[in-house]
Amino acid sequence: VTLKETRAERVLSIQERVLLKRVGVINPESIEEYIAEDGYMALEKAIENGPEWVLEEVKASELRGRGGAGFPTGKKWEFTARAKSDLKYVICNADEGEPGTFKDRVIMEGDPNLLIEGMVLAGYATGANYGYIYIRGEYDLSIKRLQKAIEQARSYGFLGENILGSGFNFDIEIKKGAGAYICGEETALIESIEGKRGEPRKKPPYPPTYGLWGKPTVINNVETLANIPPIVVNGAEWFKKFGVPGSYGTKLFSLMGDVNYKGVIEIPFGEKLSSIINDVGFGVKGGKKLKGVILGGVSGSLITPAELDTPVDFNSLAKIEAGPGSGSIVVLSEDRCIVDIAKNIAYFFRHESCGKCTPCRVGTEEMYKIIDYISRGLGEESDLTRLEKLSTSMKLTSFCGLGQTAPNIIAQSLVKYRDEWLEHIKERKCKANVCEFEEIT
Ligand code: NAI
Ligand code: SF4
Repeated sequence: VTLKETRAERVLSIQERVLLKRVGVINPESIEEYIAEDGYMALEKAIENGPEWVLEEVKASELRGRGGAGFPTGKKWEFTARAKSDLKYVICNADEGEPGTFKDRVIMEGDPNLLIEGMVLAGYATGANYGYIYIRGEYDLSIKRLQKAIEQARSYGFLGENILGSGFNFDIEIKKGAGAYICGEETALIESIEGKRGEPRKKPPYPPTYGLWGKPTVINNVETLANIPPIVVNGAEWFKKFGVPGSYGTKLFSLMGDVNYKGVIEIPFGEKLSSIINDVGFGVKGGKKLKGVILGGVSGSLITPAELDTPVDFNSLAKIEAGPGSGSIVVLSEDRCIVDIAKNIAYFFRHESCGKCTPCRVGTEEMYKIIDYISRGLGEESDLTRLEKLSTSMKLTSFCGLGQTAPNIIAQSLVKYRDEWLEHIKERKCKANVCEFEEIT
């Protein structure tokens, strides 16, 4: 670890503030301040060059979706742009429900116009005239600031009819979620906007061709849309200066857990997790040893200290069965208990399973019960095999991503931290002293 002169220098050392450049700098409730810092320049440039040019620029940038799956944004937009329909929609997925993830919130609270501009550009490039921001209901400040930004954008002619005299119409409405994690899954989110129970639909057909009310719908994460204005203003080649082939640009992460510096950070793809934790995060809290990292939320992956030098980009992480996922980095010190973490995750998924399909509805319940037993000192070695089999069947047979990814971290912990599971079962011992074992009479 290279010690930099000041704390701020070190925190910013490997960061590159492209999306966060105005956050904390401008007043987020003033569109004038956004405009003064190059705001809505991308929209003007787009209108000068036409929708096809915008689409080609986004495709050329090779931007990949920042919601977790990394699908090429330009390709997604092209499906919608080419679809023949009287109506098309843009939806911004701002439901950010993954535990430990709060990077989208920072954009919406700190630079709401960036998202609005990104949505207008998505509508312009794909021929959609209406947009929804489906936002986590608990994000009060984001909702307030987005609402203000929408009203101000309308008054400046960036939203509404005949935007900047181009003949293009686009408006945006905010829809508040009611706290269900499943409504972050794009088709459940669409069902929710349609006023139905938030349950996933069968895919394909995918939303870009069959989405809201059966119409072609571009649905992108907040961070994906926030990347569009800088790409349009500066060009695809500029964008590709950040990151590495296969993962261009920067990536926002919420860095948290047992680390000295916590917060939302912006890192060019390709940096190592070890640099993120040691340089930006100032290392593990209290000088403790690192036990591991939960990367990409509780549906993401569990990284061991031995894997810490893996570059953070889609392709390198895929080699260790990981990914940037929802964009969170939760640092775990040696004081954490892996069984307790698994139990917490299982509890979360048991609660959030929508109940539509059996493998997930029953699987999440069973998973929790088994882990709970083990955490109380009542487990047997065969329970680990049961957990493994359950994980495999949930991954293979659950209807949607929630059930397919719910066992990810639990299954990885059974391989990577097996000794600790066995210690709980055979020796009724929890080194972290977190689990409370029951007396066996
Ligand atoms: P997915 O791989 O099914 O789809 C990704 C996107 O590409 C979707 O928008 C989908 O419509 C589109 N797509 C895929 N194939 C397509 C095709 N052939 N034609 C047109 N469009 C196509 O992944 P999914 O289930 O949408 O997302 C999973 C990710 O979500 C995971 O990586 C997970 O990390 C992340 N996630 C994020 C959360 C958050 O709070 N940000 C919460 C939970 C999960
Ligand atoms: Fe619902 Fe879970 Fe099935 Fe998805 S996998 S449809 S969340 S029950």
